[in-house]
Amino acid sequence: MRAEIRTTDHAGRSRALGHQYRARRRRSAAWQRDTGAGRYAERGCALCHGEKGGGGPSGPLVGGGPLNSTDRDPAKLIGNYWPYATTIFDFTRRAMPWQQPKTLTDNEVYALTAYILALNKIIGENDVMNAETLPKVKMPNRDGFISKYPEKH
Ligand code: HEC
Repeated sequence: MRAEIRTTDHAGRSRALGHQYRARRRRSAAWQRDTGAGRYAERGCALCHGEKGGGGPSGPLVGGGPLNSTDRDPAKLIGNYWPYATTIFDFTRRAMPWQQPKTLTDNEVYALTAYILALNKIIGENDVMNAETLPKVKMPNRDGFISKYPEKH
C-alpha cells in the first residue's frame, strides 16, 4: 500500500518536473532567439555586416555559393567554408563588435552564434546553442577540406 502511494507521488512529481523542464527549455529558446536578434541590432553588427547578415562594408555573415565553381576567387563565408561552428563563437567572442571587442557576455555570444547559424539555415530558429550543442553542429563544408600532405596524417 505504502509503496503504491510512493509510486503515485513519484509519477506526479516527475510529471511536474518534466513540465517545468519543458517550460524552461521553451523560455531559453525564446530568450536566445530574442537576444541574438536584439544584440545584433543593438551592437551595430548590421552597420558592418548588413541587416540579417546579408552584407555590408565588412562583408556578409550569410550565404556563399559553391566553392567548386569556375569562379577563381569565390567568397569563403561561414555557410560555405567554415568547417566548425565553434569558430563563430570564438571569433565573435574575441573580436566583435569590431570597435568594442570583449564587451559581450558568453551567453550573448552563444545567442549571436545561434542567430548567425539560423540565418544560414544550418540550425533551426529554436535550436539552443551552448557548450554541449554548438560543437555538435555539422557545418556544410565540414568534409570539404583535403589535406595537402595526407602521408603526414
Ligand atoms: C565596425 C564594423 C564591425 C562591426 C560593428 C561588427 N563587425 Fe564583425 N567583422 C568586421 C570586420 C572588419 C571583420 C573581418 C575581420 C577579419 O577578417 O580580420 C568582421 C568579421 C566578423 C565575423 C567573421 C566572418 C567571416 O566570414 O570571416 C563574424 C562572425 C562577425 N564579424 C560577427 C559580428 C557580430 C556578431 C557583430 C555584432 C556583435 C559584429 N561582427 C560587428 C567588422 C565589424
